[in-house]
Amino acid sequence: MNRPGECMCNMFVWCIFALIVTVPICTEASRIRHYRWNVKYEYKSPDCYEKLVITINGEFPGPTILAQEGDLIYVELTNLLPTENVAIHWHGIRQIGTPWSDGAEAITQCPILPGQTFVYKFTVDRPGTYLYHAHYGMQRSAGLYGSIHVAVGKRKQEPFSYDGELSVILNDWWHKSHQEQAHGLSTIPFIWVGEPESLLIGARGSYNCSLLKSISNAAGSGSICNSTNPQCSTPHILSVKPGKTYRLRITSVASLSSFNFLIEGHNMTVVEADGHYVEPFVVQDLNIYSGETYSVLIRADQDPSRNYWAALNVRGRQPKTPTGRAILNYIPNSATKFPPNIPPTGPLWNDSSYTLNQAKLYKAKAGYVDPPPLQSSRRIILLNTQNKIDGYTKWAINNISFVPPQTPYLIALKHNLSKSFDQIPAPENYLPYDILSPQKNQNTTYGNRIYKLQFNSTVDVILQNANMLANNASEIHPWHLHGHDFWVLAHGEGAFDPLKDTEKFNLKNPPLKNTVPLLRYGWTAIRFRADNPGAWQFHCHVEAHFFMGMGVVFSEGVERISRLPTSIMGCGESKRFFRH
Ligand code: C2O
Ligand code: CU
Repeated sequence: MNRPGECMCNMFVWCIFALIVTVPICTEASRIRHYRWNVKYEYKSPDCYEKLVITINGEFPGPTILAQEGDLIYVELTNLLPTENVAIHWHGIRQIGTPWSDGAEAITQCPILPGQTFVYKFTVDRPGTYLYHAHYGMQRSAGLYGSIHVAVGKRKQEPFSYDGELSVILNDWWHKSHQEQAHGLSTIPFIWVGEPESLLIGARGSYNCSLLKSISNAAGSGSICNSTNPQCSTPHILSVKPGKTYRLRITSVASLSSFNFLIEGHNMTVVEADGHYVEPFVVQDLNIYSGETYSVLIRADQDPSRNYWAALNVRGRQPKTPTGRAILNYIPNSATKFPPNIPPTGPLWNDSSYTLNQAKLYKAKAGYVDPPPLQSSRRIILLNTQNKIDGYTKWAINNISFVPPQTPYLIALKHNLSKSFDQIPAPENYLPYDILSPQKNQNTTYGNRIYKLQFNSTVDVILQNANMLANNASEIHPWHLHGHDFWVLAHGEGAFDPLKDTEKFNLKNPPLKNTVPLLRYGWTAIRFRADNPGAWQFHCHVEAHFFMGMGVVFSEGVERISRLPTSIMGCGESKRFFRH
């Protein structure tokens, strides 16, 4: 029996293993942090409405992984969902040397079946704010997510200082189950998930229960919606001491919404984005997209005799959900004392130039700039369109709507299982197309082709937005790349013009990110080095869009991976490699 991914039970073996795969993941100071997680359903009422939520060891959101740069993380995950598979992705962790631990079902592993235990092992090689979440079906919407906070190594310092740290997870929330949502998206007539019932800050919201006729809860002991339930009766509390400075680690795990987050009367200084320091800038409110993480500094320098609202509002789609709220509590005021005003609603949801201008403020922090290569060897242009295929509503990239294969790409590529996915290269560009008119049927097909990248080459990707099926409609798509960070070279409006727009690229100090918004009717240009052997998903982080096919797959250097752990196998054509 040999399961390379599962034999690293001590530092010694891990170091030897690291040597074999020639990855510098072993540092003196690194520690192993071992977690045992049971994933199961529980009834929870985050916005007062009771529903089944996926919990980790009974917690929702899951426990925060607190680690230090260079630590090894072992997560031994047992799937106790009675009838559903699961997989967890470590969003923002590049998985250098451990591409099989990325947690992207159908890309890097077979799903974890009910009753099974799977061990994720990876290094958190850089300080910063990250997240984890389900990467199977639409389970992230069911609450399977949490934060990863990685502190700087010993004897190192952050380029800013603060007195305390506060964690803020932002989410949108539906009362319908993720299964029912997924069903609606895959049926005729199409049933859209609609706008969320609530916006959650720190897993707390407040649905107006009086909107519901009395339905009893699962236990039959009360109403399904109960505004006195302690899980929701008070908003999330952020407690601060007057005069002190706090680092807020803000994460959006939203299923659909783009957000604007603000705190009444308090400016925020943005210092970190997706695990990288940015040149600090001050905002009154922060636009944040699903899959993004930020650190902002706030100073508790306002009238200390009262509390203030932290408010969460939707951008880019006409808001139909009440403002999400949390309380910034000035100690020693009562934490639950509501601020006197109503929570602020932030900038107008459709003020596109406001959105674009804030996106353009990001630059890598001076002294920490990792400049991009000045040239790239390949430019891939990805047009996203909404389309109909045989009457089904789908999202497509260059006319292909992504459908994951039975056999995970990582295994198929490593073992040359060429029948497990379409070997024709995925299209590098789109056919002539008017991005401003409503979509016609563009002969869109289902597909699972990939982009094979030359190892160590520099690749540009231009994300191109367009009008949707309806008239005058285009929406924001936050794109996330697994296994890499990329430089955000530019955001622009309209159709990308290869001649003129490349001149707008910031090649001096572009920010490094793993998630970036593609704004309405606009384009976004990114650059990255294909230097991480593996198969990596690149997709829209809107849960429903990804489910409807809005994603692609890159691969590079798979031949350099010495051996895959058999624990990721067992499905599709990889059955034959699976041994117990
Ligand atoms: Cu956070 Cu593939 O996603
Ligand atoms: Cu999208």
